[in-house]
Amino acid sequence: MLKNDLILKAARGEKVDRTPVWLMRQAGRILPEYRAVRAKLSGFKELVETPELAAEVTVQPVDLLGVDAAIIFSDILVIPEAMGLTYEMVEKKGPHFPNTISTHKDLDQLKIAHPEDLQYTIDAISITKKELNGRVPIIGFAGAPWTIFSYMVEGGGSKTFSKARKMLYNDPELSDKLLKMITESTISYLKAQIAAGANMVQIFDSWAGVLPPGHYNQFSLKYIQQIASAISEVPVTVFAKGAYFALKEMNDVSCRTVGLDWNMDVEEAKKLLPNKTLQGNLDPCALYGSFDQIEQEAHRMLDRFKGHSHIANLGHGVYPDTDPEKVKCFIEAVKSY
Ligand code: CP3
Repeated sequence: MLKNDLILKAARGEKVDRTPVWLMRQAGRILPEYRAVRAKLSGFKELVETPELAAEVTVQPVDLLGVDAAIIFSDILVIPEAMGLTYEMVEKKGPHFPNTISTHKDLDQLKIAHPEDLQYTIDAISITKKELNGRVPIIGFAGAPWTIFSYMVEGGGSKTFSKARKMLYNDPELSDKLLKMITESTISYLKAQIAAGANMVQIFDSWAGVLPPGHYNQFSLKYIQQIASAISEVPVTVFAKGAYFALKEMNDVSCRTVGLDWNMDVEEAKKLLPNKTLQGNLDPCALYGSFDQIEQEAHRMLDRFKGHSHIANLGHGVYPDTDPEKVKCFIEAVKSY
């Protein structure tokens, strides 16, 4: 039994005594306690692949910050790896894939990921479940097929993702094949996370904003919908960064919650998404302000979401150099509203 199920209630659109709050990237470098665990290891991937330690850093923000949910510590890039494309996390630079996908033949090196290939995350969820002992729900997650596709084609981060976008024009058939494989892999992975104890799941479409609306519907939203409609066990959240042009379409996706980034207009989102809970959307840079400013900004944000089912969060992941005391101030400001 969960002692605090505010976030699940809010996701389902039920009445809550106060708005629940958590932060994307709460399990990470903002906490000195995370950096201490990480410093003892060979790298980021060792942390992801060691269930006891992944569980430990998952629980840290619940203990230290007082958030209303834990998000399992892992990465969206475990899916391409389980499909056959390994990645490296380069210190201070980000992910790098030594091999990428550019031809139909390259698909031969891939397979549909099996949950067993990702047993370390499944085990981390089971351990987290025990350690939390019902204090707060656990959020499972995966990348949206388009965002995963971008990394597999591009080989790493990019300002424009022009290689990935080019493939949509030059070889829509190959694009569809790869997106289908990612979609299938993701559905069974999320279902395994739920079976292990995830109480809700979030799909991160971090690079939604680089696509034109037509391509977004055809090459991203379609596969997100396939995932969302396959998951009926728990509430699903879709966070598509930069996809303000697709909010109207998102009202028809089989998810309960839509995440908003800080560029998105809350008034407009409320109108376009009458059936959804909204999540977000304070500018992560607001947490560089003074304690008074943070409280004021948090309250202003809550004012904007009034009258709509809401889960408080930032508009994207918290920046690693944010003072944890400022993060706590934001969380307290939401709780005391
Ligand atoms: O706290 C949480 O939110 C849970 C853990 C989590 C991580 N990555 C840990 C992480 C989650 C949910 C993710 C998702 C993720 N990973 C996304 C989608 C969300 C978003 O931010 O848009 C994306 C695009 C990735 C890919 C990724 N992982 C990049 C581009 C990077 C490098 C950039 C950076 O922040 O350093 C990572 C590394 C990463 N993933 C770190 C963490 C805590 C930092 C690495 C470290 O600790 O050394």
